[in-house]
Amino acid sequence: MTGFIKLIYGDQEFKLPVFEGSEGEKAIDISRLREITGLITLDPGYANTGSCASDITFMDGEKGILRYRGIPVEELAEKATFKETAYLLINGRLPNRDELTSFSVLLNDNSLVHEDLRVFYESFPRSSHPMGILSSMVNALRSFYPELQDLEEEINMTVTRLLSKIRTLAAMSYKISRGHKVVYPRPDLAYCANFLNMMFDSPVKPYEIDEDVVNALRVFWILHADHEQNCSTSAVRLVGSARVTLYAAISAGIAALWGPLHGGANQAVIEMLSDIAENKNMARVVERAKDKKDPFRLMGFGHRVYKTYDPRAKIMKKMCDSLLNKLKISDPLLDIAEELEALALKDDYFIEHNLYPNVDFYSGIVLRAIGIPANMFTVMFAIGRLPGWIAQWKESMDDPNWKLGRPRQIYTGPTQTKLVPIDRR
Ligand code: SDX
Repeated sequence: MTGFIKLIYGDQEFKLPVFEGSEGEKAIDISRLREITGLITLDPGYANTGSCASDITFMDGEKGILRYRGIPVEELAEKATFKETAYLLINGRLPNRDELTSFSVLLNDNSLVHEDLRVFYESFPRSSHPMGILSSMVNALRSFYPELQDLEEEINMTVTRLLSKIRTLAAMSYKISRGHKVVYPRPDLAYCANFLNMMFDSPVKPYEIDEDVVNALRVFWILHADHEQNCSTSAVRLVGSARVTLYAAISAGIAALWGPLHGGANQAVIEMLSDIAENKNMARVVERAKDKKDPFRLMGFGHRVYKTYDPRAKIMKKMCDSLLNKLKISDPLLDIAEELEALALKDDYFIEHNLYPNVDFYSGIVLRAIGIPANMFTVMFAIGRLPGWIAQWKESMDDPNWKLGRPRQIYTGPTQTKLVPIDRR
């Protein structure tokens, strides 16, 4: 704690403690506010409200800083594997060589899913969105793995199963939706390459692992691995606070991420860029985004925390250029995205509102180059974000001060009224 803040209300004066984090961020501790003052706070969207103290991820929205357990995301994207990053987020430090080997063996040994799960896939309409399928299938996993008596073992096994099987579940939804043969995980392929092989290998056309594509996926998943208390992570923490299973909490996080204002934006960006490509209406799209009366938002732009360029978008934009050059792909949507960014960044509206590209603006271009269909883009985000969700859930479960999440409200409805009998209504 660092000092106090005085609150004067009417003829009363209250002192509330101020809490300071390791990076100098300060918060008023209002955990006893109602008890002391009779007042509560009101903050739609929680833009000014911290839900927890956390050791996992640090963001500075003004400076465009993002660090996982203190390590800059730029350094992880350049030097770490996604498995190492997942281990870092969940365990608080990078693994040594033996720990990484054991982690890899565990992930491999748990990469299959119960064969009976296929019946669930067959029951979904072929047009079902892969995010709806993924959220359902993650919740369904609980039914196939009875709870272990030892809590720590139960948690560790569930974490391993989720990290490994989410790839298999995602690839299965893609294959089955196309009526293609499901491809099993292979023991000789590492995390990212195994997923790509499950997605694209075929009995008539074996998938050739391209190290540039594997590297692009590694970077993509590292950039998405955690982002402090975003909407879906807050959903995982809130649902988890009711002491549901980790499967159910993660299923809730997947559901929240699906929204176009959140993780669903990566698919919405590509739809927006494709619309501009088809209708040559970029100026109109920008005007609509600025029109207060129009609910349309420029997809992939703006952020609740970043009021400067999203550091992940910078890396993603570079990845677009390097991957498309290596694969000798020319994607007209990349040209449109760069032209749209240039137009928006010199427009007063976007400048005054501190609106810059976020992680979703260029990520779809990378996924298209890899061959991922647009309706799977948010599934790719979910696979990347899973280690962060797990780390945040574990931190909340281990927090002695953590309690059931239950916000208050200010009631503004009718005061007490009488029930009017139906004959007189
Ligand atoms: C992710 O939180 C995270 O960390 C999320 C994420 C993660 O890794 O978990 O980073 C992933 O979700 C990235 C965001 C993806 N969503 C989009 O790209 C959708 C488009 N963006 C907007 O919907 C919006 O920017 C949000 C939802 C992302 C953030 O909006 P806020 O913080 O709720 O701000 P707001 O909607 O209140 O907007 C403030 C002002 C408003 O104008 P005024 O009424 O004040 O005049 O900015 C305007 C808004 O109209 N504005 C936009 C805009 N974003 C904000 N105007 C046009 N286009 C936009 N994209």
